[in-house]
Amino acid sequence: MREPKFYDLTIAERLDVLNREVQLTPEEMAALSGAAGLTPAQGSHMIENVVGIYSLPLGVARNFVVNGRAVPVPMVIEEPSVVAGASFMAKLAQAGGGFIAEADEPVMIGQMQVIALPDVQAARTALEAEKERLLQAVDGLDPLLQKYGGGPRGVEIRLIEDSSIGPFLVLHLLYDVRDAMGANAINTAVEKLAPLVEEITGGKVLLRILSNLADRRLARARVTIPLEKLAFEDYSPEEVRDGIISAWAFAAADPYRAATHNKGIMNGVDAVVIATGNDWRAVEAGAHAYAARSGRYTSLSRWYKAENGGLAGELELPVAVGIVGGATRVLPAARAAITLMGVKSAPELAQVIVSVGLAQNLAALRALATEGIQRGHMGLHARQVAVAAGARPDQVETLAQKMTAEKNIRIDRAVELLKEMD
Ligand code: MEV
Repeated sequence: MREPKFYDLTIAERLDVLNREVQLTPEEMAALSGAAGLTPAQGSHMIENVVGIYSLPLGVARNFVVNGRAVPVPMVIEEPSVVAGASFMAKLAQAGGGFIAEADEPVMIGQMQVIALPDVQAARTALEAEKERLLQAVDGLDPLLQKYGGGPRGVEIRLIEDSSIGPFLVLHLLYDVRDAMGANAINTAVEKLAPLVEEITGGKVLLRILSNLADRRLARARVTIPLEKLAFEDYSPEEVRDGIISAWAFAAADPYRAATHNKGIMNGVDAVVIATGNDWRAVEAGAHAYAARSGRYTSLSRWYKAENGGLAGELELPVAVGIVGGATRVLPAARAAITLMGVKSAPELAQVIVSVGLAQNLAALRALATEGIQRGHMGLHARQVAVAAGARPDQVETLAQKMTAEKNIRIDRAVELLKEMD
């Protein structure tokens, strides 16, 4: 007998499958299932004025193979079709060997804004000459980071010539944060360095903060889908491949489309970033700034015809995420999510994240270039509307089916149908 699909299992059965695949502790199982998790008391150590805990669904995307390793991918998201879309595209990708991904060393950029300089050029020259001293001043600042091989990697001096306050200097401290997202480490380092920069330049260091345009910390993934895997319903594989390539061309050429195209990528990226307790605003900011790096906002991905006639895709973006420190350690579900994925380093997590972004982009383009996005959305959307209309758990499926059959998925209609069902 064929094994039932993960999708068709009950929640308990799905957790069993994961537990068989990845050996989870009872605590990790409880954190994933929602039976246990962050308490309000723990939450009140994280942010201010806590009154409770806010929940979102946690799904697990299937079929992902990244650099030859099968990875269950935890995704936290409120939007229907995202987890299914990623899983399905990962399955198509498997036929072409899965995702090939890489990530740069985890080097963050810390910025220092140096103003009130009597002679900007002289200050620049002085800083250039003192780079070694600057690096040494923050070497060993974080002994734990140092122990794991992190720490300062370089200093860059930039001149902002044209600004509303006149010319000023920007010092970039490049700092390897190893398996952390690194915001605290880099912010501490630039704050520490400020007095020395003032001493060297005779100016004033105003801002000391990381840059979310973490372009020293890029992750990239590529995938090839064999041509024959692209056919579905009445669509020929060539039609699907060429449709996806044309859809990509639209995003590459037009910022209005690129914003939506990249949003689709971030549906996948953010869902994993959130599941692992990372700062999704940081990753969002980095992604969109990177998409605009040429001066014109464009697509983060690229789709083209592969040499073997299939469809090839690539995605590159900054992925500043960690597996230690911050919320990744405090949130029980985030810890369990990292165990589930089996990632052992921050760059490895970034590799999975960028692969999921690429899969999600493909799911959206494939739907958009063929039957449109709404059809796939209908089923789950109908269930959401059914729940919103007050359907009991035993009524949700029937009510959703009725609305889908009528092609009328609206809350007022759901309420009417519910009355008829009672
Ligand atoms: C919806 O959340 C995402 C899409 O709009 C992405 C896209 O248009 O490529 C479907």
